[in-house]
Amino acid sequence: MGIGTEGPGPRIMSLRDIHTPVLLERTIELLAPALDAPGAVLVDATLGMGGHSEAFLERFPGLHLIGLDRDTDALGIAGERLARFAGRTTLVHSVYDGIASAVVGAGIDRVDGVLFDLGVSSLQLDEADRGFAYAKDAPLDMRMDQTEGPTAADVLATYSEGNLRRIFERYGEEKLSARYARAIVIARSDAPLERSGRLVEILDAATPAALKNAGHPAKRVFQALRIEINGELASLERAIPAALDLLRVGGRIVVLSYQSLEDRFVKRELARAASSTSPAGLPVELPEHAARFRLLVKGAELAGDDERARNPRAIPVRLRAAERIREVA
Ligand SMILES: C[S@@+](CC[C@H](N)C(=O)[O-])C[C@H]1O[C@@H](n2cnc3c(N)ncnc32)[C@H](O)[C@@H]1O
Repeated sequence: MGIGTEGPGPRIMSLRDIHTPVLLERTIELLAPALDAPGAVLVDATLGMGGHSEAFLERFPGLHLIGLDRDTDALGIAGERLARFAGRTTLVHSVYDGIASAVVGAGIDRVDGVLFDLGVSSLQLDEADRGFAYAKDAPLDMRMDQTEGPTAADVLATYSEGNLRRIFERYGEEKLSARYARAIVIARSDAPLERSGRLVEILDAATPAALKNAGHPAKRVFQALRIEINGELASLERAIPAALDLLRVGGRIVVLSYQSLEDRFVKRELARAASSTSPAGLPVELPEHAARFRLLVKGAELAGDDERARNPRAIPVRLRAAERIREVA
């Protein structure tokens, strides 16, 4: 790579300072064996601000990158950050379950690596007007793709008490779901809930004093609303199998999850892909029943103490990875 032609500009240098990609070196180490050949293709299914992608493009001069994000603001920033690699990148506005169409659209049929760095980006959390962060008063939007779909305010205004309770239970694993759903329904009969600050006040008032020290009362409700509004789990359930199918033999996938619902699903899908499908009782395994993948890490890997101390986003991360070892007939 010629530093002269592919060196970052000043605005991008400052982006590097404010945004550190999580488990960057480990992600590179795990995907490297699949990406070393010229013309290798990596799909970054969650481009965000392009931090991981930039490091991969710098590290592998022959790499072509297909980057997906559903957030047009993220694509704009990543596009600028990766402009010096324009000849080696294809950036697509898409949900990650559109991964197969994005790859085919780039004229490619199999890929060498796939990276998922799930959840919200620091950009989304930091942009005060998007309503993702319970610590900042903002309109209750929470859409990752602001070009379509209902907002958090729409959900809070229209869902029945029972449906609110169910999403808080299911996507927030919130013990006080029934209490919070009731409090929201009472509050909205006075005035529509339009701002995150108001929602935080309602949740806070509905939390028994004895439980106020068990984490911020709004944390799990905000997570649940975000997952519901963005259809995050359904999208992931379609995307991971599609990504596994796109990998060539020797191709690798790395997934970084930040909450247990996502990590549980990723764990199950990778374990399934790395298991034999031999029916019980068959004395020998037929080749077509052999596992398609092998797991590259045991269990889930966490960030080290140093990284956790430097970058709070790394605290909840769980990394899982696998390599394709067999073609399916
Ligand atoms: C944690 S950030 C990625 C950060 C990135 N690795 C970096 O270094 O800048 C996750 C990104 O995934 C995007 N995202 C979340 N769910 C998505 C989905 N279903 N389809 C496409 N993009 C999604 C978000 O918009 C966000 O920009």
